[in-house]
Amino acid sequence: MSKIVVTGGAGFIGSALVRALLGRQAGEIVVIDNLLSGKEENLAQVREQVQFHRADVCCYETIAPLIAGADTVYHMAAIPSVPRSIEDPVPSHEVNINGAFNVFRAAHETKAARVVYAASSSAYGDSQILPKVETMQPEPKSPYAAQKLLGEYYASVFWSCFGLETVSLRFFNVYGPRQDPSSPYSGVLSLFITALLERRAPVIFGDGEQSRDFTYVDDVAALCIQAAHAGPHVRGRVYNAGNGNRYTLNMVWGLLQKIEGVRIAPTYGPPRPGDVRHSQADITEAVRELGHAPEIGLEEGLRRTLAWYRVTTSA
Ligand code: UD1
Repeated sequence: MSKIVVTGGAGFIGSALVRALLGRQAGEIVVIDNLLSGKEENLAQVREQVQFHRADVCCYETIAPLIAGADTVYHMAAIPSVPRSIEDPVPSHEVNINGAFNVFRAAHETKAARVVYAASSSAYGDSQILPKVETMQPEPKSPYAAQKLLGEYYASVFWSCFGLETVSLRFFNVYGPRQDPSSPYSGVLSLFITALLERRAPVIFGDGEQSRDFTYVDDVAALCIQAAHAGPHVRGRVYNAGNGNRYTLNMVWGLLQKIEGVRIAPTYGPPRPGDVRHSQADITEAVRELGHAPEIGLEEGLRRTLAWYRVTTSA
């Protein structure tokens, strides 16, 4: 039976990946999560079907035996958020850079077959051309963006220097059920949706005309699995994991109000430091070489996400 490791597997994206893997009966699944932002309840329905280890990717000695001999390691553990990395850069540096290095090193030294690394669209920064293509020069604008980019470079170097198979996927603003809305650093759609359900005004930083390529979590999970199984041509490479569209925050808030049948004017605040203005993925290469095209458009994804928050917040 194959062995699959998911770091950050109790997190929002990691737990969606675990469920997707179980749906494909992929093998023995080992979850590594320190529960800093992950939650065991994210794995509630599947807890008996996975091996859960509360462990920190910053501790090499702890994680190396858990990773040993894996067929695939999905490295999803991270401290996300652009503003958090500006206000408090040390923890995100330690997890996003040193933790990633530890995972690559453990995978290499224990002869794991392939690592799929969760990189970030923030690597593109404010490069003028849209959509963003993988061949563009990265222009990180925040510690978080720089950290995630360095992880990509390590992924590529572990392939070229040590022969560890790696694939990096630049996630574009992932959203969906289980995204934690409880922190000011939470993803904007989790904050918008909770505001909507509580009939509160959301806060929009800046004029709301910045745009994002919001990508539904199940599409990202499916792409990760494709990356693990794609042929030798993907080794050491970087691919966009986006939806291929972009929507301004004003448009998204408008859409949410339409779905819910309410009118609530947002509150506008100052622009956020480190914010990228526009983000949109060119997904040509990812679709062609990894073989998954996104299936969930924004309106459908918002409806699914709203339905989940409505049930969990009323429970
Ligand atoms: C960035 C990355 C994304 C990564 C994420 C990790 C880019 C383009 N995207 O997301 O790939 O997964 O970091 O954290 O760099 N906003 C509001 N009101 C709020 C909260 C946020 O207006 O209450 C705004 C932000 O200023 C920003 C947008 O919404 O313009 C999206 O913010 P957020 O969801 O935090 O993600 P990014 O920083 O874009």
